[in-house]
Amino acid sequence: MRILVIGSGGREHALCWAIANSPLVTKLYCAPGNAGIEAEAEPVDLKAEDIEGLVAWARDNAIDFVVPGPEAPLVVGIVDTMEAAGIACWGPSAGAAMLEGSKTFTKEVSDAAGVPTAAWQRFTDASEARAYIDQQGAPIVVKADGLAAGKGVTVAMTKAEAYAAIDDALVSNIFGEAGASVVIEEFMEGEEASFHVLTDGESVLPLATAQDHKRVGDGDTGPNTGGMGCYSPAPVLTPEMEEIVLERIVHPTVAEMKRRGTPFKGVLYAGLMITADGPKLVEYNVRFGDPECQVMLSRLKSDLLPALLACRDGELHHLNLRWHDKAALCVVMATEGYPGSYLKDTQIEGLEAAGDDEAVTVFHAGTRREGETWLSTGGRVLGVTALGDTIADAQTRAYAAVDRLDWPQGFCRRDIGWRAVGQ
Ligand code: AMP
Ligand code: GLY
Repeated sequence: MRILVIGSGGREHALCWAIANSPLVTKLYCAPGNAGIEAEAEPVDLKAEDIEGLVAWARDNAIDFVVPGPEAPLVVGIVDTMEAAGIACWGPSAGAAMLEGSKTFTKEVSDAAGVPTAAWQRFTDASEARAYIDQQGAPIVVKADGLAAGKGVTVAMTKAEAYAAIDDALVSNIFGEAGASVVIEEFMEGEEASFHVLTDGESVLPLATAQDHKRVGDGDTGPNTGGMGCYSPAPVLTPEMEEIVLERIVHPTVAEMKRRGTPFKGVLYAGLMITADGPKLVEYNVRFGDPECQVMLSRLKSDLLPALLACRDGELHHLNLRWHDKAALCVVMATEGYPGSYLKDTQIEGLEAAGDDEAVTVFHAGTRREGETWLSTGGRVLGVTALGDTIADAQTRAYAAVDRLDWPQGFCRRDIGWRAVGQ
């Protein structure tokens, strides 16, 4: 089969790395990809948001199956457009991708399906929103309704912070349309966990558990990022907890989406809070987490491609996935300054040495190459991922690989996996 993966981050590198191993693949492309991805897939010079361009290219190049990585093309309907052009495409339709595209939509679906989640209300008027905050008190959480590049959520510890978040979204319009309405919700206390399942709209196949670290600094401090590292399995999600999450959260959501005539196909990533009253839904994403994808696929023994095809074809009930018993841990290397502004084109040395341990894979998230020289192009640049007998072992191997890199402008957290290693 001729496959096109869409995206340019570490997640897409991991997808290409896994798909390239499938005996079903005759040719693999990635649009736009990055320099590291070129080891697995031929690059295509088209952006992930260029839906028309991608459809035309896929048609001209006889692509059999398209695998979008990020949420942006899904939310604007790449699956619908590809399928309408006769090209099989993995993932949710635009109607189903609303589970990530709109917080209000997710709350409505959750309420209709009886999914446990924080109490909430939606506002478009700033003074009504402030009155609600006065009535509820802090801590409280304010969320821009639409996609805001991961920056639309304020966990306000004081009422003043909550007012400021309201003003940003509803008065100063800093998120544009995405912040034209806000969801204000109850603050939930507990340990966060994420849970990914594949689904064909009806059947559900849980993936290995994984947990990321969102804060930029050691000890989970500093601003939120896309994810500074990750490990799998996640001990907080015990098999009993997984059953509860499937029964109370995932299955009711999948059934409700089907009932609405917008069945969800693809990977559904549930962000959870494990509270004293059991697991509650924080949010849905409609794509693999990044760097969760890197650790999950590192542990996957089975061929990924038939599972993705089965999601699209409604045949997931025939499938079973096998996983390595080993743990995996990914340390994200970012450019100094991230998640704020950062330099581009800083030189990275030692990539070959870092990948020397056969248990280590260095996934690229933002690199380009000039001859033999590797240069950084992004905030998150590398995902140094190791397998190990335990999470502690994977952690030791991943940091040993990180230490073989020579990249003065790069940094990473030194404590990825601390919760799991400490247990
Ligand atoms: P989201 O983009 O909805 O995942 O929110 C980003 C982060 O904000 C989450 O990973 C949580 O750490 C935090 N968060 C979101 N909603 C809540 C909530 N209701 N209570 C506590 N923390 C939350
Ligand atoms: N690692 C978090 C995310 O992909 O949203």
